[in-house]
Amino acid sequence: MRIDIITLFPELLRSPFEASIVKRAIDGGKAEIHFHDLREFSLNKYKQVDDYPYGGGAGMVMMIEPIDKCISKLKAQREYDEVIYMTPDGETLNQPIANQCSLYENIILLCGHYKGVDQRVRDHFITREISIGDFVLSGGELAAAVFCDSIIRLIPGVLGDESSALSDSFQDQLLAPPIYTRPAEYKGWTVPEILTSGNTPAVEQWREDQALERTQLLRPDLLED
Ligand code: ADE
Repeated sequence: MRIDIITLFPELLRSPFEASIVKRAIDGGKAEIHFHDLREFSLNKYKQVDDYPYGGGAGMVMMIEPIDKCISKLKAQREYDEVIYMTPDGETLNQPIANQCSLYENIILLCGHYKGVDQRVRDHFITREISIGDFVLSGGELAAAVFCDSIIRLIPGVLGDESSALSDSFQDQLLAPPIYTRPAEYKGWTVPEILTSGNTPAVEQWREDQALERTQLLRPDLLED
């Protein structure tokens, strides 16, 4: 998978790709991330990329020309599955969306700032809009990092234990069961006996029961349909 990220603040985005599973995916050639600094596509010597909104009002709007130049340059080099705009009014990211997006070969992610982008960008270049939740960040960069992490870990071969993405919370509309490791007792706090019993089918049953119980307690909405 190749991800081209268009941003005004590439420095905000580097570290999430420099550690852990995402780094391993990149080092192993399963994912490629390219940053494109929108200011390099500015039309004037002041590196301007935003302007006042027509009709007045507070805040600045990201201009269409630099974005068009950057997206057009990328599209001239390869085909893209989607051009995605990270925005709080997009479809809310969830596990089914992450699963689906993990199958893409090439995507462009546009990170918004200030009041957002000129609507004509959304009308003519953007094919999908994604939000990471009903709250407003100061820009799309952190949202893009979250989105990338959620899809890169799902690329086949990225997670060491192939089954482990499948046992994540939400993959089956259930929260994950509690997990424990050594020591079996710490400050008098013990691990549930069943987990040290060696009875694998009983452990599996316990995990299923716990997953259901936790979901009923903490996220009953997940069980509604
Ligand atoms: N940009 C600002 N807030 C955002 C959000 N919640 N999701 C995606 N992009 C954003």
